[in-house]
Amino acid sequence: MLNPERRTLSPLTDRFGRVHTDLRISVTDRCNLRCYYCMPAEGVQFHCHDDILSYEEIERFVQVAARLGIRRLRVTGGEPLVRKQVTRLVEMLASVPGIDDLAMTTNGILLTQYAAALRAAGLDRLNISLDTLSRAKFRRITRRDELPRVLEGIAAAQRAGFERIKLNALAIRDLSEDEIVPLTRFARERDLLLRFIEFMPLDAVGRWNNHWVLSGEEILEILSRDLGPLEPVCPAGSAAPASEYRFLDGGGWIGLIRSVTRPFCERCDRLRLSCDGKLHNCLFSTRQWDARKLLRSGGTPEQLAELIRAAVGAKKKARGTDNGEFAPIDRSMYQIGG
Ligand code: 5AD
Ligand code: SF4
Repeated sequence: MLNPERRTLSPLTDRFGRVHTDLRISVTDRCNLRCYYCMPAEGVQFHCHDDILSYEEIERFVQVAARLGIRRLRVTGGEPLVRKQVTRLVEMLASVPGIDDLAMTTNGILLTQYAAALRAAGLDRLNISLDTLSRAKFRRITRRDELPRVLEGIAAAQRAGFERIKLNALAIRDLSEDEIVPLTRFARERDLLLRFIEFMPLDAVGRWNNHWVLSGEEILEILSRDLGPLEPVCPAGSAAPASEYRFLDGGGWIGLIRSVTRPFCERCDRLRLSCDGKLHNCLFSTRQWDARKLLRSGGTPEQLAELIRAAVGAKKKARGTDNGEFAPIDRSMYQIGG
């Protein structure tokens, strides 16, 4: 048996010396938006309720993961807030020994309703996705007219006492160029930490090709041209995937997640559990480990620990491969978790 007295087993180190301390848990593949780069407009095949892990199953998995050195959790989806009583899960995860940072990635639509309860349940941090401040463009991107509710949700999260809220904006060529300056101003005025994310080939909807990647360099050019010069803040080699830049005039800060032009695979410390209980060692992994099967067939904590170690042991060097090319996958963010 795993000794309940011994909190930590040996850490989750892979063949490249990367120690895994971060687990992303998708709680649903459903979503109240239909972003064109993520989902088809109609006819998405979602998992049925029996397919997805119960909160108790997720908790059992996390208890083992925490003993293996997982310290940080992020609850994602799909849209995590569309799953019933997700605050109950947050409460359960917040009290797992060893977990010292519990975050959520959300599109913000339901935050007006849930922000205070999430905070009370023990959620430490929020990332909110927002690609544009134009209502018309928001509708074009997400196929829903929900920008006002997202903006209200952001305000509600601030009122609920969340600090250092991050805004994530996907950067896509011919779509995002005009959004960069308004989003930066918006974030600055509200003390939100804005990060631009390069568009990655998660291509279940067949929208990705290199042309659509608006690079971090191009974003910096636009910002320094229109808002003034910036300087990098994060020392090279920092563990954070975003590199941070500060405006020299003291007017705020932005982050760049250059997942395409400057991958951070070398320092990756993440694992992902999809809502149907498959463990992935990378966004681009072509193999997955079936935790649900173990959880539902009387698997012991040792067996779960073995499964997690197996996934870490098989992790490839970069982008799901050992040659650093992107592994071709036909999976979208909603199917694996952001
Ligand atoms: N590349 C990068 N980010 C993506 N997201 C969705 N699809 C992609 C992709 N292909 C982002 C969303 C949201 C977060 C959950 O993931 O914009 O911010
Ligand atoms: Fe929903 Fe996120 Fe996919 Fe948009 S990108 S449809 S918000 S899961």
